[in-house]
Amino acid sequence: MKFFAVVGHPLEHSLSPTLFNAAFKALDLDYTYTKEDIGLSELKLILEKVRSGEYSGLSVTVPYKEEVIQYLDELIPEAKIIGAVNTVYFSEGKVKGENTDWQGFKDALVKHTNLENKKILIYGAGGAARACLYALKEFKDNVFLTNRTEAKGMRLSEEFGVTFVNKDKLPDVDVFINATSASLNPKSRNELLVSEDQLKKVSIVFDLVYGETLLTKTANTLGIKTIDAKEMLLYQAIKQFEIFTGKEAPIEVMAKSIGLSH
Ligand code: ATR
Repeated sequence: MKFFAVVGHPLEHSLSPTLFNAAFKALDLDYTYTKEDIGLSELKLILEKVRSGEYSGLSVTVPYKEEVIQYLDELIPEAKIIGAVNTVYFSEGKVKGENTDWQGFKDALVKHTNLENKKILIYGAGGAARACLYALKEFKDNVFLTNRTEAKGMRLSEEFGVTFVNKDKLPDVDVFINATSASLNPKSRNELLVSEDQLKKVSIVFDLVYGETLLTKTANTLGIKTIDAKEMLLYQAIKQFEIFTGKEAPIEVMAKSIGLSH
């Protein structure tokens, strides 16, 4: 018997237990995946449970992806560059941290479009934007970044070698990625971030917040293709499953468990 969990707060709507338990069942593994909806003060204790073997692996989500780093013995290079960890496990006597979000984002995006010669705009300059920038590093000459707080956006653009643009003077792009948390906040849930005229010129909208947001709703009304953030969740979980179990993930079972077709 092995135990896994997602660690974060709030977790009522987390689909991770559904995804992982469906996969464990499909492969006939005697493993269980639960939720640890905790406060920051409990994070250290949960990480100790990885060291003691009580948990074989943890998925780490908002708001602890950065906080968790201090409790790890080893961080893989891409997690260090992104500055966030979403996968924790015990191996070779060490508590290790990885990041599979960037890969999940990239897999979901390239499933829908070929990125060669596409202009891509990332809106946001937090942890989610960092994972997108890392995922798109080979396309950086065609990547633009904007952010409400200019100085933060400029710093991040410089770090990843992409072009910073003012949010009121956005260039025409093919792919619009919303990496802000605006739609999670009741105060800003009704802000579109971009004008409808600007949006009309875009071919694909990818909002990293799952469920319908004002942005995806408007894009759909305008006939623009949208990528469901659940796909990113699926693909990052597939990588995580393989890290946790060393086995190939049953992708179709996992997709179906959260209402996606693969
Ligand atoms: P995460 O790690 O989820 O990316 P974060 O580090 O708190 O979260 O970053 C949130 C991002 O959403 C930031 O880019 C933030 O813009 P600021 O840097 O100006 O704070 C952006 N954001 C949040 N609410 C927003 C809003 N109402 N309009 C525009 N951007 C918003």
